[in-house]
Amino acid sequence: MTVDRARLEETAQAMVAQGKGILAADESNATMTKRLEAVGIESTPDSRRGFRGLMFAAESAADYISGVIMYDETLRQASDDGTPFPVLPASAAILPGIKVDTGAKPLAGFPGETVTEGLDGLRGRLGEYRELGARFAKWRAVIGIGEDRPTHGCIEANAHALARYARLCQEAGIVPIVEPEVLMDGDHSIDRSEEVTATVLRAVFAQLAEQRVLLEGIVLKPNMLLSGYDCPEQASVEEVAERTLACFRRVVPAAVPGIAFLSGGQSDERAAAHLNAMNRIGGVPWELTFSYGRALVAAPLKVWAADTAEVADAQAAFLHRARCNAAARRGEYAESMEHELVA
Ligand code: 13P
Repeated sequence: MTVDRARLEETAQAMVAQGKGILAADESNATMTKRLEAVGIESTPDSRRGFRGLMFAAESAADYISGVIMYDETLRQASDDGTPFPVLPASAAILPGIKVDTGAKPLAGFPGETVTEGLDGLRGRLGEYRELGARFAKWRAVIGIGEDRPTHGCIEANAHALARYARLCQEAGIVPIVEPEVLMDGDHSIDRSEEVTATVLRAVFAQLAEQRVLLEGIVLKPNMLLSGYDCPEQASVEEVAERTLACFRRVVPAAVPGIAFLSGGQSDERAAAHLNAMNRIGGVPWELTFSYGRALVAAPLKVWAADTAEVADAQAAFLHRARCNAAARRGEYAESMEHELVA
């Protein structure tokens, strides 16, 4: 089956449009339950709907957000007035997307490593998601760094699955976000982060080519190169930005329209500062934007948990993070913006 090249390219370019980024609101129910319980809220379909709905309905979100990634449950939910969630962002010109992997599961034969599952039946699910309004999808592979990890077997298994997923998406007219996340947990140096990330990205692009994926019709969602969170020596914002771009120049083909970074547990301010520094350096063939989960969602969740009736306050906290990251996407973020919370 051929792919609708024009449709894919148009969607991918809209996802990485200038001045905007992607909201990752696609935590699985298990992860969302952890996040809600951490702030003292019971996790129910309705509490998950309530929190995500307030972000989707935030006025002016479309000024900063190009697309929102939903979870299966969310894509089937609706706002209080009955507007289906895929329609709500779309009416504000925000593209709805859907997480389609079924999670990182232990990889047989490779203790401590995982492979992301979800290929079985994916063609059928993509057809249904498209009917429900999804324009793009996400699949997250997870690669950990340890003494003897990652193994070649783990990298190849994950890269292969990512490529098979990507091609299935493109056949369905859905742009795949290709997310090979190298975790920054551990005490490894930024050198090790670079070595592993470059190896993983090379494997991913080899598999994407093997599976005939149209590079112009994907968005890459990688980690930045960081020092491991427990490494005593932490790289500066400038070093992270310079090294991430230098590494990506070597391994990411210029045909890819955009790179939308994950935040991966960085502080809200650091996630914005790193993206900002990269956009200031510029001179790369791809758009550099964000597809943040925690770095967009944690702040409004905290505010909402304090008083779930004060939806406007939580929306203001969400818009603030979105505005800061949208500025970073243009290279115009400054730490002083953090003190300018406007509704
Ligand atoms: P974080 O920005 O919290 O890493 O989440 C992004 C994401 O979608 C991970 O799959």
